[in-house]
Amino acid sequence: MSLTNFPGSENSSPLDSSITKVTIPALAEMKRQGKPISALTAYDYATSRLVDEVGIDLVLVGDSLAMVVMGQENTLAVTVDEMLHHTRAVRRAVRRALVVADMPFGSYHGTVAEAVANAVRFVKEAGAEAVKIEGARTALVRALTDAEIPVIGHLGLTPQSVHRMGGYRVQAKTLDAVQQIKADARALQEAGAGVLVLEGIPREVAAEITAELLIPTIGIGAGPDCDGQILVFHDMVNLSFAPKAKFARRYADAAALYRSAIDHYREDVEHRAFPSDEESYHLSSAVKQELSETAEDQTKRKLHKV
Ligand code: KIV
Repeated sequence: MSLTNFPGSENSSPLDSSITKVTIPALAEMKRQGKPISALTAYDYATSRLVDEVGIDLVLVGDSLAMVVMGQENTLAVTVDEMLHHTRAVRRAVRRALVVADMPFGSYHGTVAEAVANAVRFVKEAGAEAVKIEGARTALVRALTDAEIPVIGHLGLTPQSVHRMGGYRVQAKTLDAVQQIKADARALQEAGAGVLVLEGIPREVAAEITAELLIPTIGIGAGPDCDGQILVFHDMVNLSFAPKAKFARRYADAAALYRSAIDHYREDVEHRAFPSDEESYHLSSAVKQELSETAEDQTKRKLHKV
């Protein structure tokens, strides 16, 4: 049995022939060709299916799930096991997009060996095709790349540094900070990162980094000049119950849609308008007949006894 399966070769799986899987090299090629990369977060099977079927290129199982799915105040508390659980659900749904798992706070802040072991879990136990880590951790990026685990870097407003930053603030606003983030971006690329997320930085800075790097940049609150864009799904559809950030364009009001559906259902139940007869299962007429005959018999027997 051959372990390799070259696209277009005789041993390609017929099931997959219509789908060209997005890979890290494919994203680099999109940058070279000037094709914008679309990315979204997703955390569950249903949403990931839709995101993938629509043709989004990269699905990030973001640690933002701590906030938008689990209702926590920031991203810090989510665990490796919780992230694995959601990554598995996403993996089952996605056929085309690149599936990226966010390494949660604490899972890559100890030794490099511990961080690599945690990253291996995302690939081995949950089917992630890359992991994302925040900050300019070049030694770790090198070690992960050596372990055949593609890495997405993340610079700028890195939510896991919320306490150090003193809140969620736009970063890289001074000359020193601009020079630092540009140097960090270069260092991550040299260390082997395949993609770089730029979050919450001035448009001009993101544009310079994007022009300088060979690897694609994906922006969130970093302006339109990045090679791609990512949003948190719940922000995009108004399900995050948080004040809207400047960059988070709302494409739908799922809160209003869900609220109205739930309210309609509640009313129907309270007025016995749900379920209808058409929404009920029925006995066959033969069994119905038998049942009524049995009931009649029982009534007659009771009458005779009395
Ligand atoms: O966790 C997340 O959703 C992210 C994106 C904002 C890039 O890291």
